Amino acid sequence: MNTTMHSHIETILWSEDQISRRVSELAAEVSADFASCSVAPIVVGVATGAFLFLADFVRKIDFSVSVDFVRAESYGSGTESNGAPTISLDLKVDINARHVILVEDIVDTGHTLSRVIKHLKSKGASSVSVCTFLDKPSRRKVNVQLVGEGKFYRGFECPDCFVVGYGMDFAEQYRNLPYIGVLKPELYE
Ligand code: IMP
Ligand code: MG
Repeated sequence: MNTTMHSHIETILWSEDQISRRVSELAAEVSADFASCSVAPIVVGVATGAFLFLADFVRKIDFSVSVDFVRAESYGSGTESNGAPTISLDLKVDINARHVILVEDIVDTGHTLSRVIKHLKSKGASSVSVCTFLDKPSRRKVNVQLVGEGKFYRGFECPDCFVVGYGMDFAEQYRNLPYIGVLKPELYE
């Protein structure tokens, strides 16, 4: 078993406490924005990375929501996606004519999010908002187009470095770190 997970981290960017405070703020903002909706929105997480943020986020939302997941896979390697993700796990819940809040761990090039939004639109979502914990705008390659009255929420702007923890992985490792940190470069170079 790998017992040295923490020693693989070069710097901690956001601690467990900072994450928790920011999640509460985001949930309060989203709760206020959707308070007047007659039908509760559907929260859709992008598997696997969004699982921890989604779990924390929905527990701070003050109305009942449906929760579902999609998975988008891009067959890139290492720390870069290849720009052509496909939907490999589809929704179970019917989102036709519903407001969707898409929950992501991190938006990097924007390819994954754009592909997922297109998919949700094709399934008839009346609006798609995005709530991503991290955003790396400096690396964006495609403009993320929301649907309907959808809004874009983000926890923190992330510097241009590869981060792990709080759901985010490198080669399926480090997702269970409670904080977000930068992996020592020698571990992925
Ligand atoms: P995009 O399609 O380039 O926007 O990449 C989105 C996906 O790549 C995210 O949902 C993450 O799963 C992954 N990703 C992008 N940057 C990082 C990072 O710094 N650490 C871990 N995963 C990342
Ligand atoms: Mg992801």
